[in-house]
Amino acid sequence: MSTRTLWHHATLATLTHGAPDGWGLVPNGAVLTEGDTILWVGPYDRRPAAADGAREVDLGGMLVTPGLIDCHTHLVYGGHRANEAEMRANGASYEEIARAGGGIRSTMAATRAASEQELYDGAMRRVSALMREGVTTLEIKSGYGLSFDAEERCLRVARAIGASGAVDVRTTYLAAHALPPEFDGRADDYIEAVCAWMPTLQAAGLVDAVDAFCETIGFSPAQTQRVFEAATSLGLPVKLHAEQLSDQGGAVLAASYGALSCDHLEYLSTAGVAAMKAAGSVAVLLPGAYYMLRETRVPPIASLRSAGVPMAVATDHNPGTSPGLSLLLSAHMSCIFFRLTPLEAIKGITVHAAKALGLIDRGMLAAGMRADFASWDVAHPNELTYWFGQNPCRRVIAAGVERA
Ligand code: NIG
Ligand code: FE
Repeated sequence: MSTRTLWHHATLATLTHGAPDGWGLVPNGAVLTEGDTILWVGPYDRRPAAADGAREVDLGGMLVTPGLIDCHTHLVYGGHRANEAEMRANGASYEEIARAGGGIRSTMAATRAASEQELYDGAMRRVSALMREGVTTLEIKSGYGLSFDAEERCLRVARAIGASGAVDVRTTYLAAHALPPEFDGRADDYIEAVCAWMPTLQAAGLVDAVDAFCETIGFSPAQTQRVFEAATSLGLPVKLHAEQLSDQGGAVLAASYGALSCDHLEYLSTAGVAAMKAAGSVAVLLPGAYYMLRETRVPPIASLRSAGVPMAVATDHNPGTSPGLSLLLSAHMSCIFFRLTPLEAIKGITVHAAKALGLIDRGMLAAGMRADFASWDVAHPNELTYWFGQNPCRRVIAAGVERA
């Protein structure tokens, strides 16, 4: 019996580079898969001989896009911070709360206190919500453990979520997220520890990339650079929380290490845009955090666009600045707040999100790509960033297998 499947009766949005309409729309389209790979994509009437005898699945005339990719999340943590949202509603700022020992540190305490099973259950509930909306690949950062043991535990939980087969997970080591209390007044010593833990975590197969929070309430450019040096010497790619609250020159620094992405970027400079372009770094936009912090400055979208820096969009799911669990809502917000076009936003949660994770085998519907796609009860992909507060996702196929 053929292991091939012909998924047909669908309008495809292939999102392939250079498609004349941008979207790569294929009416009456079909996708031929074998195992976890796409063999062919095109109009049903022009299906190849290889489709003969394949199992046929009728997609009911729906729109089909590549599986969505959430390329920036902090999904593994204990507790939540609704109290801090309330404090902000009463006038406190994010920085004030962080400096007073709340913020990331308060989630650190809840994360350290949680068992591995509790962390897994909480993260898996959140991942399930993302998956119901068509997410087939996601990135999960550590950064709420802030000790070797607790960071290792969070990365193990992230890996276990990937191993459950539900979704493909890329892990990012973000111990340089905040200073834990045991290192108070000794940020450089903490950075030394962060670098020293890295090889062991990498050898355990727990790290795909390395990130840092370069900010006045995070780590300095010089400290960030030490983290990047350690990552580079291990052959690990880097990314950066850059220019979220102020311009620290983080993007220029990250680009000089060939960063996969620089993320947030509300305070990105012209020099940062140019450096990212030269390095091929993706600009990851995080409108959920922008919204939740009532930020008023938007990332320099027009400059990024005219320079040709690829833009991705992600949830930045975390308990402090972005507790949302809808990648489509993030895409919608990127259109409203940042004025991305619907096509830019959808590429931002597919093909450009893949690039932000260093992945070239997904994010488009094309032969040779992973068989990750979703069907939607809409007629045109521009509806995906139009509706909000409802979920038009109907079927999800991940690595060639339809999710129950
Ligand atoms: O991406 N900016 C730093 N890290 C997170 C927020 C973390 C937190 O407040 O818990 C972010 O916005
Ligand atoms: Fe983040």
